Amino acid sequence: MAYETIVVEVEDHIALVKLNRPDAMNALNNDLLGELADALTAAQSNDKVRCIVITGTEKFFAAGADIKMMSDKSFVDVFAGDLFTRETGAILRVRKPIIAAVCGYALGGGCELAMMCDFIIAGDNAKFGQPEINLGVIAGIGGTQRLTRFVGKSKAMDMNLTGRFMDAEEAERSGLVSRVVPCKKLMDEAMGAAAKIAEKSMISVMAVKEAVNRSYETPLAEGLLFERRVFNSLFATEDQAEGMSAFLEKREPQFRDR
Ligand code: HXC
Repeated sequence: MAYETIVVEVEDHIALVKLNRPDAMNALNNDLLGELADALTAAQSNDKVRCIVITGTEKFFAAGADIKMMSDKSFVDVFAGDLFTRETGAILRVRKPIIAAVCGYALGGGCELAMMCDFIIAGDNAKFGQPEINLGVIAGIGGTQRLTRFVGKSKAMDMNLTGRFMDAEEAERSGLVSRVVPCKKLMDEAMGAAAKIAEKSMISVMAVKEAVNRSYETPLAEGLLFERRVFNSLFATEDQAEGMSAFLEKREPQFRDR
């Protein structure tokens, strides 16, 4: 399918989605987020896709929601129109893993989009920030909520109140990103991680995603019980028998997602 604000390539079981509004530093508008939601929904139902990578350019992942698009909106416009809620809801419903590969700016909605992915791999020039306070508003799609859960209250307050940017090294130290690599090597690293995930049983991959995400929504005892029940249920799969037999027979497992 041809998109205007993103580019999608599916190869070797990986859907690579490049945000593509270079004139506005990939600022998020209804078109871009709508196309992204459609592409991710399509990737979810495409049997060839086992992992998804979202990226931007070497200079920017996305510089936030499109300020031009928002500047003349009223309270009623954004409240009744529920800005970006449908699109972000669709992104969050994807059950296959999504990696954000971030070089350069990931600001405002761009940082929030990266945080909606399952993990973030950053280039060493990445800059994360929630500078909405400089526009007289606050973050609107997770910057006060997900960021606080990922980096803790003190840093989340600092970022949201001062609008300062966090570099890649600080982001890794704070737990916002999982790995930092030289920007030039970012895509190799992200595609390598996606390829590793693509080798696993899709059943266990989706189970991991559900279980880790559940940890943000439940008290520990409930989360542990959820994890244990999912762990138990995986013993009903052929892939459990295959994975364990392969280990004992000292060979690579042949997972069939069953
Ligand atoms: C629209 C944007 C944009 C944005 C950059 N551009 N960010 N357009 N919305 N968020 C455009 C600029 O207008 C400019 O277009 C071009 O991209 C290059 O930007 P420059 O500012 O000239 O580049 P530079 O000096 O290198 O500075 C880069 C920057 C800066 C630090 C990223 O652009 C910046 O601060 N951007 C805004 C970041 C921000 O406030 N994000 C939060 C948005 S609110 P022209 O046409 O002039 O060349 C948000 C809310 C989310 O995200 C919640 C929604 C529900």
